[in-house]
Amino acid sequence: MNAPMVKTEVRGRVALITLDRPKALNALNNALIDELGEALRKFDSDENIGAIVLTGSDKAFAAGADIGAMQDWNYIDVYKQDYLGGNWEALMRTRKPVIAAVAGYALGGGCELAMQCDFIIAADNARFGQPEIKLGVIPGFGGTQRLPRAIGKAKAMDLILTGRMMDAEEAERAGLVARVVPVERLLDEALEAAETIASYSLPSVLMAKECVNTAYEGALAETLMFERRNFHALFATEDQKEGMKAFVEKRKPNFKHR
Ligand code: CAA
Repeated sequence: MNAPMVKTEVRGRVALITLDRPKALNALNNALIDELGEALRKFDSDENIGAIVLTGSDKAFAAGADIGAMQDWNYIDVYKQDYLGGNWEALMRTRKPVIAAVAGYALGGGCELAMQCDFIIAADNARFGQPEIKLGVIPGFGGTQRLPRAIGKAKAMDLILTGRMMDAEEAERAGLVARVVPVERLLDEALEAAETIASYSLPSVLMAKECVNTAYEGALAETLMFERRNFHALFATEDQKEGMKAFVEKRKPNFKHR
């Protein structure tokens, strides 16, 4: 049996879920995502839990979807498995509040995972970005939809089209992040916020979350599917193969624009 990539712990009425795949900077593969989905479902249905904190390491919340795993996939591979559906969307089905405690890299699917949480508390060393364009693809896990809602069209276009990263301070100014704290305070700050939430009446907490999401999400379900299918379509290009292989081979991609 493989070592778990997701660790869980209960502290009073708060559940802590830690992504733990350090050698790959918590790159998200299907196995990790299945473990995460299982943990979320367990805590969401546990009457003794009132709030959840999702975190990574000091170096990386998550550096994105696993590029090595994706590099050889073609359009039909990703379409048939509906890649980035299923357990990848477990956070969207979690009714209890989930706080993302983000230190280090939150890139690509890592940034998208953090944005699926109810709010983000960032360490001062956090770096956010959607660098998929450098791989010959686009964000496929909500980035093109949630980022503009969170930080506005101009900055979202800037990040998604250039692939640049933004630091914690810029992310807070832009509205992506609720609070920035020194990295050594991150977990305590997130756990304290979660404890506060968990001390309130659960029905009112659940309804508050649902109502805010209603205001925020609008037609999100359809637009997310539009994004996902376009992400899938890019696996029919030569440039997706080249972009992902170049990352794995630690070289610059040579895009042919087809
Ligand atoms: N997938 C697979 N492996 C990854 C990874 C990823 N997304 N990100 C990092 N790793 C691996 C590296 O391959 C490396 O492994 P080895 O030691 O075996 O070579 C290890 O993690 C450490 O990474 P680096 O040596 O690159 O560390 P660094 O400190 O020099 O750079 C980084 C850190 C800037 C985050 C760099 O790793 C990086 O650019 N990662 C990729 C970021 C990215 O492109 N994310 C988007 C992925 S696509 C996606 O997420 C699609 C979607 O919408 C869901």
